[in-house]
Amino acid sequence: MPTPTIDYADVQGTILRGYRVDMARHFILQITDAPGARAFIASLVDGTGGVPRITTAARWTTKPECFVNLSFTCGGLAALGVTQRQLLSFDLAFQRGATSAQSAALVGDVGESAPANWIGGMSNGQNVHVVLNLWVHENPAVLERVTRQLRAAFAGCLAELSAHDAAALPDNQVHFGYRDNIAQPTVQGAPPRKRPVPDDQAVVPTGEFLLGYLNANNATYSVVPPELSTNSSYAAFRILEQDVPGFEQLLRTFAPQGMDPEMFAAKVCGRWRNGNPLELMPDAPGAVLPMDQLNAFHYLNAADPAQDDTLGLRCPIGSHIRRNNPRDMAVVSTRSVNHRIVRRAMPYGPAYDPEHPVDVPRGLIGYFINGSITNQFEFLQGQWNLTPNFVMSATGPGGPDAGNAVFNISGEDVFLGINDPSSSSFTLAALGRNGANNTRVRGFPRTITTRGGAYCFLPSITGLRYLAALS
Ligand code: HEM
Repeated sequence: MPTPTIDYADVQGTILRGYRVDMARHFILQITDAPGARAFIASLVDGTGGVPRITTAARWTTKPECFVNLSFTCGGLAALGVTQRQLLSFDLAFQRGATSAQSAALVGDVGESAPANWIGGMSNGQNVHVVLNLWVHENPAVLERVTRQLRAAFAGCLAELSAHDAAALPDNQVHFGYRDNIAQPTVQGAPPRKRPVPDDQAVVPTGEFLLGYLNANNATYSVVPPELSTNSSYAAFRILEQDVPGFEQLLRTFAPQGMDPEMFAAKVCGRWRNGNPLELMPDAPGAVLPMDQLNAFHYLNAADPAQDDTLGLRCPIGSHIRRNNPRDMAVVSTRSVNHRIVRRAMPYGPAYDPEHPVDVPRGLIGYFINGSITNQFEFLQGQWNLTPNFVMSATGPGGPDAGNAVFNISGEDVFLGINDPSSSSFTLAALGRNGANNTRVRGFPRTITTRGGAYCFLPSITGLRYLAALS
């Protein structure tokens, strides 16, 4: 597939660029006055009226003091004047919205995670129209100043349902103590990452993240009108609360006898907490690997049987990173490389200190970006995170006597599953026919709860101008 030329200045920056910032504020807004909201969009596009300009993916010579992006729910587009007929051309999950019963059931937003319990005005998805994002680097004064500017500009036309802050933890950690921000898809035609983490996975077709370009199925996601199509994208905005003491207790209680809880932590994720992948460091975390090795691994290796992990003996097939990107592993009814996602989420809440435990909400908040919420975010959540039956029958170098991949996964993702203790299960594989010697860890609880969410459309700059000009 020839590399397309992308007009970076027409693409909202967060889709193609990691901003490498450490503070964020996300505003959840409801349109109360459409003409005023359109004027606000116009001022953001042009950077006029005392607000910063929307950040695009265009290269900058001096790093901006703040980054601003803007997305809309289906109800938000309708409130601005996009017609019902036009909205029918949008992604089906986006049309339904994150609080719809169908989406909630599909992605596991049930029980305490059900939309009815969501915070910040998000439980009633009909009212959520706009998600406005502000990121700054190490400067709370800039965060507050730009917040004041934005609030002054949208007052009277957008009601602020809530605002949600995020703050990076040291060393790119997330709240369970793992290093994050390592693996991201390499998108065809996108600006190169400032600090690349090389891997030899296939470059992902542009259309998996931007409407109007060829996607992994050699088709094109697009919507009408054309102004809203090319260079736009979708995202699932998520607020995922993490129960840190609960997770530590899970590790201590459910690590099989004789297994260090730290090893169990690595097994459920697929990486040690220092970021090293189990595929390369199967026995101990070791010293942090250099950047060029951190993501340079596959699960299968036909050329070197000693390096092959078809059976998930080193990195469990049900681990978080293997479920969410099975890489070269064969999967049922689709291709393992077709459902990649760009993660732009940051921790919120203070780090948990076991010596001085403070019981406040903490977790991960942000966008999971894709060209199709149906085929990417909802597929990942619903198929690969919530079921074990996507794995193809496959034997490793030892033949059937050593085992088969289908027996070496059970239950749901330990991070993202519903994990009701009555049925939760995680498989640690061992050599043996039909998984005869596997260990199944059962009965552990859910430690990540969905507290909010919205399915969003990130229009191109052309699209934002189109929305601003609607009547
Ligand atoms: C609080 C919730 C979550 C936590 C604690 C978490 C944690 C992690 C960690 C520690 C990594 C390894 C670091 C890296 O590879 O960069 C990772 C990777 C990943 N996660 Fe999550 N994650 C969460 C939510 C999600 C969600 C909602 C999705 C998508 C539905 C997701 C998809 C992925 C993907 C695609 C990777 C990279 C896999 C690879 O390419 O090897 N994660 N996550």
